[in-house]
Amino acid sequence: MKCIQIDRYGGPEVLERRELAVPKPGPGEVLVKLAYSGINFMDVHTRAGKYATSQTYPVRLPTTLGMEGAGTIVETGRDVQDFKAGDRVAYCLVWSSYAEYALVPAWRVVKVPDALTLERAAASVFHGFTAHYLAHDVGALQPGSTCLVHAASGGIGQILIQMAKRAGARVFATTSSQEKAQVARSRGADVAMLYDDGRFADAIREATAGKGVDVVFDSIGKATLRDSFRAARKRGLVVAYGSVSGSVRDLDPIELGEAGSLFLTRPRLADHLPDAATIRRRADDIFTALLDGSLTIDVGGYYTLDTVEEAHEALEQRRMIGKPLLTISPEQ
Ligand SMILES: NC(=O)c1ccc[n+]([C@@H]2O[C@H](COP(=O)([O-])OP(=O)(O)OC[C@H]3O[C@@H](n4cnc5c(N)ncnc54)[C@H](OP(=O)(O)O)[C@@H]3O)[C@@H](O)[C@H]2O)c1
Repeated sequence: MKCIQIDRYGGPEVLERRELAVPKPGPGEVLVKLAYSGINFMDVHTRAGKYATSQTYPVRLPTTLGMEGAGTIVETGRDVQDFKAGDRVAYCLVWSSYAEYALVPAWRVVKVPDALTLERAAASVFHGFTAHYLAHDVGALQPGSTCLVHAASGGIGQILIQMAKRAGARVFATTSSQEKAQVARSRGADVAMLYDDGRFADAIREATAGKGVDVVFDSIGKATLRDSFRAARKRGLVVAYGSVSGSVRDLDPIELGEAGSLFLTRPRLADHLPDAATIRRRADDIFTALLDGSLTIDVGGYYTLDTVEEAHEALEQRRMIGKPLLTISPEQ
């Protein structure tokens, strides 16, 4: 089977096309013939070596990139009860989806409803699960809440806006261009603005009668985190869930006190998908919303195993709007 591996960390040039044997499922595993795989900023981080020493997401080289996909089960290993060959499924947080086939622990897999295409399932799992736990479990958004979503036209940003609105929150959004701000508005953001060298924090304070928002969702890190503190209300919550601009390595906890006794958390999806029941509950919510039209996923571009570098470059150069997808073997 064709796949894309890395044996060293670096830029897009470290991606290697390989031909490997189709793997056999072990106990508790299913073999999925992939139709589509998600391309995520996390793949860029993995390729660049950001998870080289991670305990939560350990990466061993050589590794096949990609950690999300949808397709059809072609074989099940011993002790797999809930799935059989022919089932249409999706999953995330298992590396090796830049490939024609992937081995996945059965507990991480969810069935895709007949009415939902594998394409939409693949585009919604990783980013959908992330937005779901951020809005509901970490942000605990409810009617009357206020929040700020950075990188609001991105893969997670667009879904997070929609989930925050569905929870009843007032949503502020930031982006790097007016075109992207318009995308954020079209997803439901009440106010969309440019980062404007950190002046978004002043604009938000002004729009909230000097208070700031209850929750800031910050996926950008170094370039925005300190201004995110300024945009949060006293005793508010700053959720630093990503660091696409680089990690903040010089934070003194006293800054949180000075900014208004803030709470700062750095959550990870893995800790919010601990078991099959939680995965199925989140997938159920997301698939239902996709099918009833209350959630829209914006596919920002289609790539193949031959062109995936272009998607990585577009993500790193901030040219991507929405979520890039890898087309592998689409449903007929
Ligand atoms: N903690 C978790 O559970 C979790 C789960 C999934 C993903 N993540 C993390 O969330 C982050 C976003 O992931 P994503 O896949 O949804 O990506 P994305 O938001 O689709 O793409 C990144 C966006 O960040 C903005 N950005 C700001 N500064 C940037 C820079 N220096 N370089 C590149 N982009 C920059 C860009 O939007 P503008 O041009 O509008 O600024 C860009 O669209 C990643 O760090 C990812 O690892 C965390």
